[in-house]
Amino acid sequence: MDQTKFPSEGPIGIGLLGCGTVGSGVVKLLLSHAEDYAHRIGRPLALRKVAVRDAARGREGLDLAHHLTTDHHAVTRDPATQIVVELMGGVDPAKRLILDAIAHGKHIVTANKEVIARHGDEIYAAAREAGVAVFIEGTVGGGIPIIMPLKASLAANRIRQIAGIINGTTNYILTMMSQHGQGLDEALLEAQRLGYAEADPTADVEAYDAAFKIAILASTFFSHRVRIEDVYREGITHLTAADIQYARELGYVIKLLGVARREEGHLQVRVHPTMVPRTHPLAHINGVMNAIAVQGDAVGEVMFSGPGAGMMPTASAVLGDVLNIAANLEAPNPLITCSHEGAGDVAPIDELETQFYIRLIAHDKPGVIGTIGQSCGQFGISILSMVQKGEQHGLAEIVLVTHRVKEKHMRAALADMADHPTIQSIASVIRVEGLK
Ligand SMILES: NC(=O)c1ccc[n+]([C@@H]2O[C@H](COP(=O)([O-])OP(=O)(O)OC[C@H]3O[C@@H](n4cnc5c(N)ncnc54)[C@H](OP(=O)(O)O)[C@@H]3O)[C@@H](O)[C@H]2O)c1
Repeated sequence: MDQTKFPSEGPIGIGLLGCGTVGSGVVKLLLSHAEDYAHRIGRPLALRKVAVRDAARGREGLDLAHHLTTDHHAVTRDPATQIVVELMGGVDPAKRLILDAIAHGKHIVTANKEVIARHGDEIYAAAREAGVAVFIEGTVGGGIPIIMPLKASLAANRIRQIAGIINGTTNYILTMMSQHGQGLDEALLEAQRLGYAEADPTADVEAYDAAFKIAILASTFFSHRVRIEDVYREGITHLTAADIQYARELGYVIKLLGVARREEGHLQVRVHPTMVPRTHPLAHINGVMNAIAVQGDAVGEVMFSGPGAGMMPTASAVLGDVLNIAANLEAPNPLITCSHEGAGDVAPIDELETQFYIRLIAHDKPGVIGTIGQSCGQFGISILSMVQKGEQHGLAEIVLVTHRVKEKHMRAALADMADHPTIQSIASVIRVEGLK
């Protein structure tokens, strides 16, 4: 796309696709900080058309009568709009409209994790072809700056690992379970009452939302696109108060962690409940807060934390992207544009090597401990600690933590144990991360 068709002086036109929670925040910032922004980038930003479903609905008291439209193309094809901000959510029509805007030479800013995680390859390919930018700071961590700092300030590093609490709803639920002894259902109801969880909480508690975000982070920083289908995903619905309590006794806190790691010849990209050592900073991120710990080969470990969602925090990330594009319209900064090279080779979860916490319910009979030891021994698994936590109605609860072991060997040992008549059930299996 030949950018010379846009004037290099005068206002920079900003169009919006969607004006709900985040979109309203973006409009508020654009209007209230207009002078400041114009001063910083040397040109004013001008709000152009704002496409919504229902143009008659009130928008946070904002006077948008001259901007609202139900005609998507009034945004994506407006000759005076240089930057289109997509805040509709979902895949359709968001993806189609992003591609339409790109085809008409617009730069894109979006906070839509689903469309980027599922269709980022197609969107970035189209943007490269058209010579426009696609910026996505708001897709991960809400208001936390993570994408731009890693691309710019940490550009000198090879990023080895990204591990983060990237879903505020589940972090709130796990915090209530561990600090206030609530059960999962009680904590979820409270999260819904406070507006932290949707009426249908599936995307959060089954970790779909976190999977989109870790796929985006891995794709962005490992230079290879990670397909959402290759991300191992496990939610928090099977966690119990007993696991939370035993984790604490062992010196850990359970967090829903997204992990992306660069290993010899392949990538590891996964999201699942994880026992994090109490001494690690991530263990202290509570409530709806998010945090992302990044390991670079030169810098070591740095952690970014803050509000992972919400109107104004997310608007802050989105407007930051808009200003970055607006300030570099004439000469885009290659450090902060997309640099993927094909698809990433993500190792299957079977090949993961980690420690495991296992909670078993067994018949309280002699020889049970020997059975567990035998099953582990057969698959080369060594046990770090094993304790019996109590007995009720002839059943004993046994908790063990292993040394590092391949996931496939752990699964085989668990299948072997489950077959044994003295083992009643395998109640919990949680991965333990040293985060080194
Ligand atoms: N909310 C957060 O804290 C947060 C944080 C990080 C990222 N995000 C992401 O930001 C995006 C927006 O989230 P949100 O919470 O602002 O969503 P929202 O409140 O549901 O707003 C969606 C907006 O898009 C409009 N819209 C939806 N479908 C449309 C269609 N087919 N045609 C025209 N307009 C349409 C809606 O119009 P009407 O208003 O007329 O219905 C509404 O204005 C999502 O991708 C979300 O994942 C949100």
